[in-house]
Amino acid sequence: MEHYFIAVTIFCAIITRISCCDVVKLTFPSGFRVGTASASYQVEGAWNVSDKGENVWDWFTHNKPEIIADGSTGDVACDSYHKYEEDVQWVKNLGLDFYRFSVSWSRVLPNGFANEVSEDGLQYYKNLTQALIDNGIEPVVTIYHWDHPQILEDLGGWTNELMVEWYADYARVIFEELGPMVKTFITINEPKIYCEQGYNSTTKKAPGKTLENMGHYLCVHNSLKAHATAYHMYDDEFRATQQGQIGILTPCTGWVPGDNVTEESIEQHFQFDCGWIMHPIYVGDYPEIVKTRVANISALENYPFSRLPEFSQEWIEYINGTTDFFGLNHYTSSMPIFDTAEELGIYTRDSGIIKSTNSSWSTGSSSWLYVLPEGFGNLLRMIRDQYNNPPLYVFENGYSDTGELEDYERISYYYGYVSEMLAAINDDGCNVVAYTIWSLLDNFEWNAGYTELFGIISVDFNSSDRTRSAKLSTSWWQEVISTRTLQDVPSNSTRR
Ligand SMILES: *[C@@H]1O[C@H](CO)[C@@H](O)[C@H](O)[C@H]1NC(C)=O
Ligand SMILES: *[C@@H]1O[C@H](CO)[C@@H](O)[C@H](O)[C@H]1NC(C)=O
Ligand SMILES: *[C@@H]1O[C@H](CO)[C@@H](O)[C@H](O)[C@H]1NC(C)=O
Ligand SMILES: *[C@@H]1O[C@H](CO)[C@@H](O)[C@H](O)[C@H]1NC(C)=O
Ligand SMILES: *[C@@H]1O[C@H](CO)[C@@H](O)[C@H](O)[C@H]1NC(C)=O
Ligand SMILES: *[C@@H]1O[C@H](CO)[C@@H](O)[C@H](O)[C@H]1NC(C)=O
Ligand SMILES: *[C@@H]1O[C@H](CO)[C@@H](O)[C@H](O)[C@H]1NC(C)=O
Ligand SMILES: *[C@@H]1O[C@H](CO)[C@@H](O)[C@H](O)[C@H]1NC(C)=O
Repeated sequence: MEHYFIAVTIFCAIITRISCCDVVKLTFPSGFRVGTASASYQVEGAWNVSDKGENVWDWFTHNKPEIIADGSTGDVACDSYHKYEEDVQWVKNLGLDFYRFSVSWSRVLPNGFANEVSEDGLQYYKNLTQALIDNGIEPVVTIYHWDHPQILEDLGGWTNELMVEWYADYARVIFEELGPMVKTFITINEPKIYCEQGYNSTTKKAPGKTLENMGHYLCVHNSLKAHATAYHMYDDEFRATQQGQIGILTPCTGWVPGDNVTEESIEQHFQFDCGWIMHPIYVGDYPEIVKTRVANISALENYPFSRLPEFSQEWIEYINGTTDFFGLNHYTSSMPIFDTAEELGIYTRDSGIIKSTNSSWSTGSSSWLYVLPEGFGNLLRMIRDQYNNPPLYVFENGYSDTGELEDYERISYYYGYVSEMLAAINDDGCNVVAYTIWSLLDNFEWNAGYTELFGIISVDFNSSDRTRSAKLSTSWWQEVISTRTLQDVPSNSTRR
């Protein structure tokens, strides 16, 4: 009898231990928030309703259709301008805590400047915000997600330092009008991407300019100044009454081990990828390695200055500390290695890093999207160590396919990435406080048009109604959110 009890007790202890730890590993911590996201140009459509002005993406898709994979536009996209109430119901049915959307600058300020404000434009965002609040969903507002007014671009866009003031004027309108209802603001989405792919390339993103291998540096420089100006404005004029938080967001890629991947190559990759944007905000000024490498290579190219502009001491201090959270978008990883051509005195990349990959890795329909969950954990631990473990919001993470309703690969991606994140939180003490599914709907994927779809909900782009329907990942996420626990990836044996 005694033996029986002891045996049973030990057996139960083992079982409890196993189930306890499995559960701990796959369960969101209490208070953890899960949401989903979108961006104005990718979903709204209604590009010419009321008094809305033309933005750079309207101009780009209308004038450079050859750059968009399928020649499409965001003129109608998901028609979320007219269907926002239905979108909100989907978010509610998923059980999500927040919805991150962006405001279209030219919808609110039709001619770009704050001398003329569109009442209709503002009303749309007030309606959407109110609908979210009425349904118990927190609105998270991205003030700028790549679609600035075309007139500002004609005046130089992000390479013109006056953009800092024009952005600040626009941000003030948003704080005044939406601030009373919104507790979380993101100033700017991914400066690294629109700066590199819009101002140092003619073939990817609007405005599609190449500017002497320095447009991207000027663009990030002015974007950081614009961000900091809006942060201080919020701090000085709005925070006391609105009691919200505000920060910036950057995409960082991770890394996985491989031949010639070293601590040094990982560090150099991190500073050019993530540190370029976040070092000025968390530590002060650009990372030393970025400053010296670009200065040295510029000198080799006979420039009398560095292609990387310098911040004055005043700007260094003004930008330092201007975020309430680390906003992270993350999708993929690589094996970062040093470019060995440099040993021969050939400098082809300012970063000096080649992001090498392995042809055996699986990808989404986006060729760059290698599925490497362990790289996410490595990145989260690096951010913890580099910036003193700041509160971190994952504001985008997701997988592209071509719109399958039975999206097993998407579920498998989410399972891998979210379990890595939970391990980084539970085992390594990473201060991740929120996670965001990119994206709610299949939508206009910039220069990929509708050929790379990230939604957990399908949209029929051939129907004038833009009919939404559930995918397999819709119900999977519903279950994950209601149990606050990761669910197994469904078996795809029935797949056609
Ligand atoms: C808006 O653009 C659509 C094409 O997307 C066009 O058919 C329509 O006439 C335009 N409306 C106005 C008011 O310009
Ligand atoms: C905002 O909501 C009101 C009331 O439902 C509606 O009449 C109006 O058309 C909406 N405006 C926009 C731009 O969505
Ligand atoms: C910018 O463009 C130049 C020349 O077109 C290219 O060599 C360089 O790699 C690009 N840099 C980035 C960061 O995209
Ligand atoms: C690693 O470096 C060695 C020595 O430079 C080189 O021979 C080898 O090709 C490199 N491997 C990879 C995967 O780059
Ligand atoms: C940036 O702010 C941090 C925290 O206040 C401070 O320790 C650091 O010295 C500042 N950096 C610069 C370059 O001023
Ligand atoms: C930049 O050049 C200086 C002087 O030649 C050299 O000492 C330094 O190591 C270089 N730094 C980098 C990061 O290349
Ligand atoms: C690519 O991955 C395969 C399978 O994991 C491995 O055998 C191979 O060594 C890898 N190649 C490189 C260059 O890392
Ligand atoms: C939408 O229409 C295009 C061409 O008109 C066609 O190739 C595609 O299969 C259609 N998609 C759906 C989901 O019906």
